[in-house]
Amino acid sequence: MAGTVGMKVAQPEDERLPKRPKKAEEAIAQAKRAKLLLLSSAKGGSTKTTTARNLAVAAAHVGLRVATIDLDLQATLTNWWQKRPDDAPKIDHYQMPIEEAEAALADAMKGSGLDLFIVDTPPGVENHPSAMRALIRLADFVLMPTTQGGPDLDSVIEWWSQTVKREGRPSAFLLSRTKRSAKSYQEARQRLIKHGPLCPFDCRDLEEVQRTHYNGLGILEVRGAAGQDDIQGVWAYVAREIGLEG
Ligand SMILES: Nc1ncnc2c1ncn2[C@@H]1O[C@H](COP(=O)(O)OP(=O)(O)O)[C@@H](O)[C@H]1O
Ligand SMILES: [Mg+2]
Repeated sequence: MAGTVGMKVAQPEDERLPKRPKKAEEAIAQAKRAKLLLLSSAKGGSTKTTTARNLAVAAAHVGLRVATIDLDLQATLTNWWQKRPDDAPKIDHYQMPIEEAEAALADAMKGSGLDLFIVDTPPGVENHPSAMRALIRLADFVLMPTTQGGPDLDSVIEWWSQTVKREGRPSAFLLSRTKRSAKSYQEARQRLIKHGPLCPFDCRDLEEVQRTHYNGLGILEVRGAAGQDDIQGVWAYVAREIGLEG
């Protein structure tokens, strides 16, 4: 009879177990949920795609399960990913139209088993404003790359103040393809910092960075290449901001 008693006792006790508080459920779901890093600027040529792939490589090399998402019909990121060597740390990849991205990603972030989605966006944001805003709202961090050139700064500052800032998500400017010895470098830093957060590291204008497009690599995967400290710095900043450090 002891066994029966045991069973009888076990059953009601299980039923009486308090349900997990809703907050705890949310915390667990949040912990399992992939993070979303959005590369966003209003202009082509501001280094969104290059930054996306170099940060994806940085994430993969610290053991994170990462996917790149290409929303640009020009498919530059997809072309890079297709050339990625088989023995390089794995990066998953998806390509989809920007209009479908928010719904697909909101779903995938919950159940993908991945740690991080890095989303590369197309130029011409004015063509799909509501899709862009929905993606910004979904993002855990919005990184807005720009060169130090005046028109690029005008454009990214307007994009930030008119759109990104209004959605209230964590975000920062990133100076990229920089020429640090030019006067415009410090001027650009000062100008950006007056408007919003600025990533404390920038990525210099380096041929090696361009070349890695053709072999599916990130700058961190080219032995002795210049620019590795730049990417490591940007990654360290983004990883902490998005909550993936360590
Ligand atoms: N740090 C860098 N040094 C040199 N060239 C770069 C660097 N970052 C990007 N580029 C080059 O600048 C151009 C635009 O970059 P890309 O990432 O395609 O911008 P976007 O995706 O915003 O249009 C490309 O030719 C790319 O190879
Ligand atoms: Mg691009």
